[in-house]
Amino acid sequence: MTTFCAPARVEFGAGALDRLGDLVKALGKKKALIVMDAFLASPTVALDKRVGGILSAAGINSAVYSGVASEPTSTNVQDGMEIARKFACDCIIALGGGSSIDTAKAVAVKAANPELALADIPKSPYITRLPLIAVPTTSGTGSEGTKVAVITNLQTGVKENPGHPSMIPDIAILDPDLTVTLPKTLTAFTGMDALAHAMEAYVSNKATALTDLYAYKAMEIIGGSLPKVMENGADKSLRSNMALASYYAGAAFSNASTNLAHAGGRALGAQFHVPHGLSVALLLPFVMEFGLEVAEERYARVAVALRAEPQASRQTLARQAVDIVDAFNEKFGIWAEAKSKFITDLKAFRKAIPEMTGKALAGNGILTNPKVPSESDIKTVFEKLAEKLAD
Ligand SMILES: NC(=O)c1ccc[n+]([C@@H]2O[C@H](COP(=O)([O-])OP(=O)(O)OC[C@H]3O[C@@H](n4cnc5c(N)ncnc54)[C@H](O)[C@@H]3O)[C@@H](O)[C@H]2O)c1
Ligand SMILES: [Zn+2]
Repeated sequence: MTTFCAPARVEFGAGALDRLGDLVKALGKKKALIVMDAFLASPTVALDKRVGGILSAAGINSAVYSGVASEPTSTNVQDGMEIARKFACDCIIALGGGSSIDTAKAVAVKAANPELALADIPKSPYITRLPLIAVPTTSGTGSEGTKVAVITNLQTGVKENPGHPSMIPDIAILDPDLTVTLPKTLTAFTGMDALAHAMEAYVSNKATALTDLYAYKAMEIIGGSLPKVMENGADKSLRSNMALASYYAGAAFSNASTNLAHAGGRALGAQFHVPHGLSVALLLPFVMEFGLEVAEERYARVAVALRAEPQASRQTLARQAVDIVDAFNEKFGIWAEAKSKFITDLKAFRKAIPEMTGKALAGNGILTNPKVPSESDIKTVFEKLAEKLAD
């Protein structure tokens, strides 16, 4: 027996955002809180004005919280909640990348359960929350379709990622036109995040026939479209492919879990302020290599999804999967970005390995890794990354 949870409704296609007002009306709601970040609300993008206009044309009032930080914190959730309370909002609209969507999920839950700690969400059998519509503007996290919210607890410094089916947004609006403005680096980070979601779900110990369907298709689409969209970010059909693949990858991992690349990535991200997608992309090839012997057949299929020639032997193909991801990291500037901006001091990185290992071990995604890692296995993964960055 398996369970698969996803949003009740998905709107997909260029211009889908224009349906937002009618969708809120159909939920019977009258006052929406729009949760977003400052860049998307800045005068150059002005997505807050556009969405406010769409809502008011449908007779819906709205308030805006535009203070979400990249890699959001408990303070963002608190601030969003206060605005929701002050304006008596009856539904939440998440507008932006994973940071905005995750903050909105937490606000939707906390507005209905002010005393509930985020870390306790998974323990509750059922969670009430305000109705939630998610509109992603990056193609990476898939948060619009997942049960997870990643929020850094400022009291402990831990990146918490509570999951609960009740946190899956009611409606996901996938409008690829919103992602055309994503710059190249963010297209790379978020695209590699989506690939990691699909791949980790596909090799996960919790993978099912239902999650395989989404994970494999996501990898096929990303394998064909990500290298091209990196060359031509204005191509709307490639952006459309990535929006769909990101949603599929999210649906897959939300039900099958991510693994060590994410557990390690969260620890790395929290320690060195590395954006989520970048941190996961950096660890992915070494995590794949670690699990290769026990998931050879799965990784061979991963390689084929990513356009390797299927005639090669299983062992060769599985190895090729690692090489393809390593080559993506090279071509999309993942190694270079890490070296030049985020992990500039390799001595400090090596020194932090024991602490990052401890945090990775304590997080989600260890037991679902195809080969369950020990403490020393995780240290080795981080050390291999250090060697790579020293090249
Ligand atoms: N809930 C989940 O299932 C899940 C899964 C993976 C990651 N995450 C979390 O999501 C967060 C990362 O989200 P993200 O990678 O989408 O990035 P993000 O939301 O942090 O945004 C990164 C930057 O991109 C900008 N941006 C967003 N859309 C843009 C657009 N269309 N054009 C130009 N700029 C744009 C934002 O303003 C921001 O400066 C992390 O906190 C991560 O832990 C959550
Ligand atoms: Zn991720």
